[in-house]
Amino acid sequence: MTTGRWDIEAVRGAFPALAITDDGKPRIYLDAPGGSQVPARVVERMSEVMLRSCANEGGAFHTSRDSDRILVGAHAAAAALLGAQPDEIVFGLNSTSLIFHFSRMVARDWKPGDEIVLTRMDHDGNVGPWIIAAEERGVTVRWLEFDTETFEYRYDMLDELIGPRTRLVACNHASNIFGTVNDVARIVAAGKAAGAVTMVDAVQSAPHLALDVSAIGCDLLACSAYKFFGPHAGVMYIRPELCDRLTPLKVRPASFDMPWRHTPGTPSFEAQAGTQAAIEHIAWLGEQCAGVDVAAPLRQRIVAGLEAATDYEAGLMDRFLAGVAGIPGFKLCGIASRNRLDARVPTFSFRLAKRSPQEIAAALAGENIFGWAGDFYAYEASGLLGLREQGGVARLGLSHYTTADEVDQAVLAVARLAA
Ligand SMILES: Cc1ncc(COP(=O)(O)O)c(C=O)c1O
Repeated sequence: MTTGRWDIEAVRGAFPALAITDDGKPRIYLDAPGGSQVPARVVERMSEVMLRSCANEGGAFHTSRDSDRILVGAHAAAAALLGAQPDEIVFGLNSTSLIFHFSRMVARDWKPGDEIVLTRMDHDGNVGPWIIAAEERGVTVRWLEFDTETFEYRYDMLDELIGPRTRLVACNHASNIFGTVNDVARIVAAGKAAGAVTMVDAVQSAPHLALDVSAIGCDLLACSAYKFFGPHAGVMYIRPELCDRLTPLKVRPASFDMPWRHTPGTPSFEAQAGTQAAIEHIAWLGEQCAGVDVAAPLRQRIVAGLEAATDYEAGLMDRFLAGVAGIPGFKLCGIASRNRLDARVPTFSFRLAKRSPQEIAAALAGENIFGWAGDFYAYEASGLLGLREQGGVARLGLSHYTTADEVDQAVLAVARLAA
């Protein structure tokens, strides 16, 4: 529970980009599921690193010592974000590259006759790499479907899908197309009971929900800093038991210790520093909007910040859903019930009867409302629903920096387009 008050003015003040106007028109950023805006502290930290501390790690001199400290700080911050330990964190270019990298190690001992379970709701970043690995090893891919009416996983399939041959279960926490928040702990538990490696894609949940890898129970969990107010970087959590089992894909002189064990080559120190600053922004939300003491442990401030953001975003979601309910020809691809706000993140994909998604995105852009059109690499889901051939869907994503007025303006703009 949080006790503070969501101070939207203070929150917005942290993001310089929110004050930018184009020909006098304010920008309404509803593109966050594709990538969020960035607080000043992130940019400042990254430029400070590049201006004052640009060096590789492991040297005796000042700048190199700074890089050592950046590594330590960033791994500790990412661990606090995920409820993990610093030596369970690996930074990479983005989530997709990390999943490709880990898939090669996880699949190393797969044999023909083995099976893996993937889902139709995932972004292809947590599907494609595993399909390629399965093809290389002669392993069968089995699919966890979703209900096309409720946009929720078919949990009733789990018993039949997962068994002694299952080597991997990869699933999605929050859908980047429907916004559904999935019961990943349940799927992970089924995978673990069968002895499978379990992988959770938390790219779309990390900006909205407090995550806890212990509660989820997974072996691997990926998220992307550029979706949670940071720079372009990916973060992978790896459970120590799995970490020890995997043969690292590392060059010979590199250390067997974490994080070098699973971080091939020189990392982006600036991106790690920026990611730490983004996580500190979330912790600041806990102080500013949930009343947590600035001296409280980082994890406590982060969880409070995200819980307060979840509450605030629930109000925005309710407003959006109430607003679009009466728009003729508006079809939401996702949970529409205002009583089930805890079952979704504020990502709204929709179609209009008379406009293509691309027309919608272009018309909204004309009003300086930034949204997306397409399938967003939710390749299986968009294919299953026949959306891929029709230009996909239009997508508007709310964030903790979105105002109620911006939601109203977006709803009005969509209503004008539908008319
Ligand atoms: C749910 C989900 N998974 C994975 C990805 C891929 O992330 P990255 O761009 O960091 O590879 C995205 C990107 O949009 C996503 O939304």
